[in-house]
Amino acid sequence: MREYYPLIVVGAVIGFFSIVFSIAYALIKNKKEAIGFDRNMKDGEIVRRLLAYAKPHWKSFVFAGLCMAFSIAYDIASPLLIGYIEEIVSGEFELAQLFMLVGVYAAILVVSLVSSYVQAITLQKTGQRILSTLREDLFSHIEGLSHAQLNLIPVGKLVTRVTNDTNAISMMFTNILVNLIKNVFVVLGVLVAMFILNLELTLMVLCFAPFIVLFTLIFRKFSRRAYRKVKDGTTDINTFLSENLSGMKITQIFNRQQRKMQEFEKKNKTLASAKHQQIFVFGIFRPLVYMLYIASVLCLLFLGGKGYLDGASFLGNAISSATIVTFYMYLSKFFNPIQSLAEQFNWLQSAFASAEKIFTVFDLQPEVVDEPDAIELPEVRGEIEFKDVWFSYIPGEWVLKGVSFHVNARDTVAFVGSTGSGKTTILSLICRNYDIQKGSILIDGIDIKHIKISSLRRNFGQMLQDVFLFSGTIRSNIVLRDDIPDDEIMRVCDYVNASSFINKLEKGLDEEVRERGNNFSAGQRQLLSFARTIVHKPSVMILDEATANIDTETEVLIQDSLEKMMNIGTMLIVAHRLSTIRNADKIIVLSHGEIIEEGTHHELLEKKGRYYRLYTLQAHREQLQNA
Ligand SMILES: Nc1ncnc2c1ncn2[C@@H]1O[C@H](COP(=O)(O)OP(=O)(O)O)[C@@H](O)[C@H]1O
Ligand SMILES: [Mg+2]
Repeated sequence: MREYYPLIVVGAVIGFFSIVFSIAYALIKNKKEAIGFDRNMKDGEIVRRLLAYAKPHWKSFVFAGLCMAFSIAYDIASPLLIGYIEEIVSGEFELAQLFMLVGVYAAILVVSLVSSYVQAITLQKTGQRILSTLREDLFSHIEGLSHAQLNLIPVGKLVTRVTNDTNAISMMFTNILVNLIKNVFVVLGVLVAMFILNLELTLMVLCFAPFIVLFTLIFRKFSRRAYRKVKDGTTDINTFLSENLSGMKITQIFNRQQRKMQEFEKKNKTLASAKHQQIFVFGIFRPLVYMLYIASVLCLLFLGGKGYLDGASFLGNAISSATIVTFYMYLSKFFNPIQSLAEQFNWLQSAFASAEKIFTVFDLQPEVVDEPDAIELPEVRGEIEFKDVWFSYIPGEWVLKGVSFHVNARDTVAFVGSTGSGKTTILSLICRNYDIQKGSILIDGIDIKHIKISSLRRNFGQMLQDVFLFSGTIRSNIVLRDDIPDDEIMRVCDYVNASSFINKLEKGLDEEVRERGNNFSAGQRQLLSFARTIVHKPSVMILDEATANIDTETEVLIQDSLEKMMNIGTMLIVAHRLSTIRNADKIIVLSHGEIIEEGTHHELLEKKGRYYRLYTLQAHREQLQNA
């Protein structure tokens, strides 16, 4: 018995660690549920959905798999070869034979290296292809979401989804998945080879298996948790950054830098501590596996050496020095993949966490979608009718309460009312930015629910109060990817009085537009948005307070272009300056989501109601200003 003391000591050490970590595992499990940290999607579902992306590239994966087979074969064969060399070296041998064996070894090594390289390249390419498909799908899915859905998701979050998260998934296809498979095969292959070589020593190695499984399970739980925290922290910081970098000027104007810095510091610390936690988990697991490896080497040397010296082991097998050498190499080939399996597990965690987040975005069904029998409207005359329309952004809080009105084709209709009365809401319902809850909206006598959204929006030009310009050029901002010849662009620019300032620019239409059009004045941006709308030849134009905050210099120009635009088609307009809408065919006065007055400028003035009061007030003020 005494001679087996070393084994008992090894067993005791491993047992001790197993118990300590099992207790920690049990404790953290409860805590985890307490914070509600669980993932909603099952691993199986994530894998299934990811495989759907890999499927079109199955040929590349098969090719990579063949390359992989070479390196697996190398991993399994090389220890046998080394063992054989050891056997030869320990007896009498000829130098030529040794050289030949070393040559064979070198040849196998080269083949294995080359195939690993080819495999890596193939997978990288495939991974990038999958990644770009995924990013495109995600982007186009986000494009299909309704305004209401987009209002709910912070921009930074979406950016993280499209960039970081898809990247983690690409990592999985290029690296993790394949190494995972390779390592599993190496472990299995090594086991089989060991079985054939020596049963007793193999059984000894297998004694470590339960501990490996145990430690891996424990590690899995901790690392998944840590990874999720890192991910959430990253998303949180990205969201904060994208919002606050856009709003930096406001922060500075209101002198809130210190406050914002504190907020940022807090988020930064959270992320840092999540990272620490992750490294800590990692730092415990790796030494644990290493400990198992060292213990197994000790056992091998002990049992193997004893069997070698005694001439036979306790199971009666003869143990040669070659067997010990081969086993010694197999042990590292056995434990290394397990360690890297765990490492890749970390990545896999991250990839799965990312995949779940991406699929959650995919699972957001676009709320505003075409009905199956929706029709294409090739041409819109521009007749619009609201029939008892009820609408709310938040269930129960009606913003529009039974709004009904009729607009003839090519008429200009203006909406007037105090802030929050529902003007913008009415305009955004016409293009189905949101769906109404009750009533119906008809275009040319057809319910908009039965019209394809794309054909609806093609025929409608929306010009909003804050013009959004993309970074690019003046031209790209006007044509928005469509193919429109320059002379037509310039004709339109002339029409809306934008050409005078465009011509003054050094590069004309090719002048650079910086992010959000920062390098243009509000009035110039407005004129560009007019040009952008007109060039796409809409049948209906929607203007929401497009003339609200404009420098006096441009005001006359805009007024002029507006009047010209009124002749193009139906125009729905919200304007602060009531003089702008005096010529409208109809003026609709709103209050708290209901229509209180309706008629032409003169009719409404004669009525001496709300419009009359608004108009005289404004006229009076303008007189004062001009005086
Ligand atoms: N996205 C939204 N979510 C929730 N409520 C909104 C949203 N947009 C507007 N509202 C509310 O709807 C009401 C009407 O807004 P709006 O149509 O923009 O008014 P107006 O353009 O006449 O100033 C306001 O009370 C506003 O608070
Ligand atoms: Mg508004």
